[in-house]
Amino acid sequence: MRRPLIAGNWKMHKTVREASEYIRELNELPWDDSVEVAVIPPFTCLFAFWEARSRSRIRYGAQNMFWAREGAFTGEISPLMLLDLGCDYVLLGHSERRQIMGESDRMINDKLRLALETGLLPILCVGETLEERESGKAKEVVGEQVRWGLQGVSPHPGLVIAYEPVWAIGTGVNATASDAQDMIRFVRDIIQKEWGAQAAQELRILYGGSVKPENIGEFMVQDDIDGALVGGASLDPKVFADIINFRST
Ligand code: 13P
Repeated sequence: MRRPLIAGNWKMHKTVREASEYIRELNELPWDDSVEVAVIPPFTCLFAFWEARSRSRIRYGAQNMFWAREGAFTGEISPLMLLDLGCDYVLLGHSERRQIMGESDRMINDKLRLALETGLLPILCVGETLEERESGKAKEVVGEQVRWGLQGVSPHPGLVIAYEPVWAIGTGVNATASDAQDMIRFVRDIIQKEWGAQAAQELRILYGGSVKPENIGEFMVQDDIDGALVGGASLDPKVFADIINFRST
């Protein structure tokens, strides 16, 4: 049985003070411990999570990292610095980084291999654009992103993949639960071919793109969807808790 993971990606939102307040509020709300909860705040807010770690049930991680341990890389953050702040996870290959910052599959693969080597768990984001979906290329694109992202990587039970169709991110238009299930099953089949049946059964694959309390239930009843990567709706702890408590929402 795969433990559901609900992860909130704050993107470029919140100050350290706001993060501390959020951590306190979310921890005070009731949630079901059978669900793993993680927040992926901006780098500067990680300190608030580290500081609250002894009284917080929230796991956390970073939105990006560099592909080297240290060196003359002005403006970049090493995985060792993230581990130093207690991070479990690191998001890699988010479509905003692929599209706005021009990150390539090669760079993402370099980062992913170093993340695992140093002890961070990558959440590898994949997803097609609207144009790619409309031209019938969605599976080809997502398949390539998965294969490239995991090139040279041996099976790892802690790794997470997030399927986030670009057209569903921040638009309010989510993928249908059955389309998301179909793509996520396709990704699991690739993992099975590359890593074998057991690794494919263990790997958690999330859906992301306009997830909210009103639609989380539809995704979570699908066989292959193990959780969600939530953007906008994770910014308010009460709304995020309603997503975490999808069984009773
Ligand atoms: P929204 O939930 O705001 O659509 O964002 C999804 C996302 O990009 C999470 O990484």
